[in-house]
Amino acid sequence: GEHTIALNNDVMMPQIGLGVWRAEEGEQTVNAVTTALENGYRLIDTAAFYKNEKSVGEGIARSGLPRDQIFVTTKVWNDDIRAEKTPEAFEHSLDLLGLDYIDLYLLHWPVKGWQKAWDDLQELYRQHRVRAIGVCNFEEDHLDELLANSDVKPVVNQIESSPEFNNQQLIDFCHGKDIAVEAWKPLGGQGSDLLNNRELFDIGDKYGKSPAQVVIRWHLQRNVIPLPKSVHATRIIQNINVFDFELSDEDMQRINAMNTGKRNGADPHHIDF
Ligand code: A2P
Repeated sequence: GEHTIALNNDVMMPQIGLGVWRAEEGEQTVNAVTTALENGYRLIDTAAFYKNEKSVGEGIARSGLPRDQIFVTTKVWNDDIRAEKTPEAFEHSLDLLGLDYIDLYLLHWPVKGWQKAWDDLQELYRQHRVRAIGVCNFEEDHLDELLANSDVKPVVNQIESSPEFNNQQLIDFCHGKDIAVEAWKPLGGQGSDLLNNRELFDIGDKYGKSPAQVVIRWHLQRNVIPLPKSVHATRIIQNINVFDFELSDEDMQRINAMNTGKRNGADPHHIDF
């Protein structure tokens, strides 16, 4: 496809995806997924934790697209990692999605027991049950430990990143190790004031784009794969309409300067869920 990147195992992955955290199981998620697939999205990012895998699968089926045209990501949840039940969790996710393989299977958080879970992911990869494996919310120390003890390198690290908390140091670290970076809460997340930011409107005006489109474009130009979430058709469509303009270096710098260094989501070193 046009807007794809090559992962470190040569699998191609779309450069932008639909996030579905907090999209409700049922018609809301089914509709979001079909709307996205009808409007050019090819990557859907879900997780066992989101409790909407069944609807994601239904949306994929309803789109009528061939399976090999769609890139599906899901994740093993913390409780299953701790209980050493990753293989069972994987089968359950496949079942709910109604699929016979997953494109990208991720560890959701580096909780106690993740090393064993990573072994299980490597086994799924060797058995061709998944096309690629990776992690989420791994900090440098987690990655150092993983890379020192693993045959298979994670293809991605999915982490929090937005103009408010750009996480650039960790992104540079991952890129230096040929690990692609996906951004969760790429627009600052639900409840954030980011999309009302005056400066983002000013920048957007120059290109005829919305603050959300400016932020998504900023991610793309720093080689980060954004996973914007929306359940509204107009926004879903707007968020992928970002391949017909380019932010200037100066505008990129203005957005880099919005970093507060303050997380919106959980700290990977202090997980209490
Ligand atoms: P909704 O699903 O009601 O559209 P993130 O992707 O950073 O987690 O944040 C997505 C949040 O921003 C969601 O609450 C989503 O709400 C909202 N959102 C997504 N796309 C847009 C957009 N283009 N303009 C305004 N708000 C958006």
